[in-house]
Amino acid sequence: MTEIYENAKKGADFIVSKYPENFTTPKVAIICGTGLGGIANILHPDSKVEIPYGEIPGFMKSTVQGHAGKLILGYIGSNKIPVICMVGRFHSYEGYDIKDTVFPVRVFTVLGVSVLIATNAAGGLNQSFSIGDIMVIDDHINIPGLAGLHPLKGHNDERFGTRFQPLSDAYDHDLRFLVYQGAESLEISRSIHEGTYAFVSGPTFETRAECRYLQTIGADVVGMSTVPEIIVARHGGLRTLAMSLVTNVAVIDRPPSGKEKLPEKKMDDGIASHEEVLEAGKAASKDIEQIVKYVVNNL
Ligand code: HPA
Repeated sequence: MTEIYENAKKGADFIVSKYPENFTTPKVAIICGTGLGGIANILHPDSKVEIPYGEIPGFMKSTVQGHAGKLILGYIGSNKIPVICMVGRFHSYEGYDIKDTVFPVRVFTVLGVSVLIATNAAGGLNQSFSIGDIMVIDDHINIPGLAGLHPLKGHNDERFGTRFQPLSDAYDHDLRFLVYQGAESLEISRSIHEGTYAFVSGPTFETRAECRYLQTIGADVVGMSTVPEIIVARHGGLRTLAMSLVTNVAVIDRPPSGKEKLPEKKMDDGIASHEEVLEAGKAASKDIEQIVKYVVNNL
């Protein structure tokens, strides 16, 4: 654990050695969620540099379909803001230690990045949410964290941050305000909610009873990422913004009773699938790309 800073420094030094010509410290790090890798297309096509995760000291390989596993360095918007973009992230369900899943955010912290924007695919629990809606995260419930699986567990390295990191202001108000400003000026018609993200470890999708439980404790969406990254970014002093794309609507009704024959509606109707998640991502990713571009360009 005491070596995280040193390892992150090695990763950061390697990335600096790959900077495009005249590139300065990236101001923003962007994490592209499942099916949202298109966000990388908003970087100026010239002066882009791609670094596969496999080449970066300390990085693991991303194993999930829809995650290519590379960093892209470049500029966004008319103000040419230098950014670093993660296409493909690490999840603890892939078998990684939760501290390893957030190693890239440690590297960004050492690099001097000041804002983290994380995007993800999530299941809607709030009954007013539909597939394709966007939710700006304004709070979270860290289920594994509450149970002891936490990225800041163990020795605290003061070079990153404090032992008892407050999280009541984790989701920066000014950045959320920029999202709404951007959505208005871009005339985005898609619903943009604000709400609470419940982080679960996966890889199974939730049971009906688990969905009802998460709903009861105040979650609006559920997903398997983002929260560890946000925690570690806040620990390192970065400002954070996170957005969920609702790719499926959680099944919350009790299953049909075994006492009666099933009606024509099949029991697997509405069950979350990875294909569904990728499909909704494609359709809505353009809007998310434009919002991210607006936010970055107006920081
Ligand atoms: N549950 C957990 N993670 C998810 C879901 C879901 O329903 N949809 C997309 N990611």
